[in-house]
Amino acid sequence: MTATPAVAYVTSKDAPDQEVGAALAAFTGQGVAAEPVVWDDPAVAWERFDAAVVRSTWDYTGRRDEFLAWARRAAGLTRVCNPVPVLERNTDKTYLRELALAGVPVVPTAWVGPGERLDGGTAPWPELVVKPTVSAGARDTVRTTDRAAAAAHADLLTAAGRTAMVQPYLPAVDGEGETSLVFIGGAFSHAVRRGPMLSGPEGRFADEPRRPDADQLAVAERVLAAVPERAELLYARVDLVRGPEGTPLLIELELTEPRLFLQYEAGAPARLAAAVRALAG
Ligand SMILES: Nc1ncnc2c1ncn2[C@@H]1O[C@H](COP(=O)(O)OP(=O)(O)O)[C@@H](O)[C@H]1O
Ligand SMILES: [Mg+2]
Repeated sequence: MTATPAVAYVTSKDAPDQEVGAALAAFTGQGVAAEPVVWDDPAVAWERFDAAVVRSTWDYTGRRDEFLAWARRAAGLTRVCNPVPVLERNTDKTYLRELALAGVPVVPTAWVGPGERLDGGTAPWPELVVKPTVSAGARDTVRTTDRAAAAAHADLLTAAGRTAMVQPYLPAVDGEGETSLVFIGGAFSHAVRRGPMLSGPEGRFADEPRRPDADQLAVAERVLAAVPERAELLYARVDLVRGPEGTPLLIELELTEPRLFLQYEAGAPARLAAAVRALAG
């Protein structure tokens, strides 16, 4: 094992990353020499690092191809976490289709590709969410009860060559909230109750730690069991929202650059650092 593995904490130019401080302190505590590095900085010598841990690369959504090309190149020089095939699949939410086919309960979704139009399949849903399959932070996402407005937003996305996904608006995000279950080094670490992002200021609430229910943990386990590279995942975040029948549904599986809410759980930064050390050492 390398005495002091060198690790790149991979971030982006202008991303305010709230957990970089806690993560870097924990890495130091575990004997890992980590430094923040910008993924698209051409001056970085990736071979200097025993591992590159993808964290806050949140500016890749408008240039996914460039990001994946970087990841493939870096993987030839260092160990990229999560592994590149995972990043390739996980940066486009069409992976939800595959998971649904594998039997995972996923938020019902109608997919509208370039050249297609929103059809009547969404008619039973009183309120719709229309979003692109490549996104982060609810970018280019619209919530509406107006079908014409929903169709127009889908058209806007598909005209730009993107694929739109249309879902029923799940009111549970405004009550129980979205539950994000964070896994580190293959094991459940902690969970967070997330406030709704598509509600007005009066309906918002701050994220807070929460203990997941047994049914949420069970669904999260099913989600991860459907990932072929599960044993190689450094981190995973499973985002669930309850559907109209109350069962947890997968809204997003974050294996690329999830905020891990490290500051919500005292042991989490050290857990991440230990898992990185195990991979990079
Ligand atoms: N079907 C939905 N029902 C209710 N809220 C939704 C729905 N889809 C998205 N949202 C809200 O928008 C946020 C962002 O959507 P998400 O699918 O997680 O994409 P991303 O986080 O990659 O932008 C969610 O965290 C949630 O607050
Ligand atoms: Mg999300």
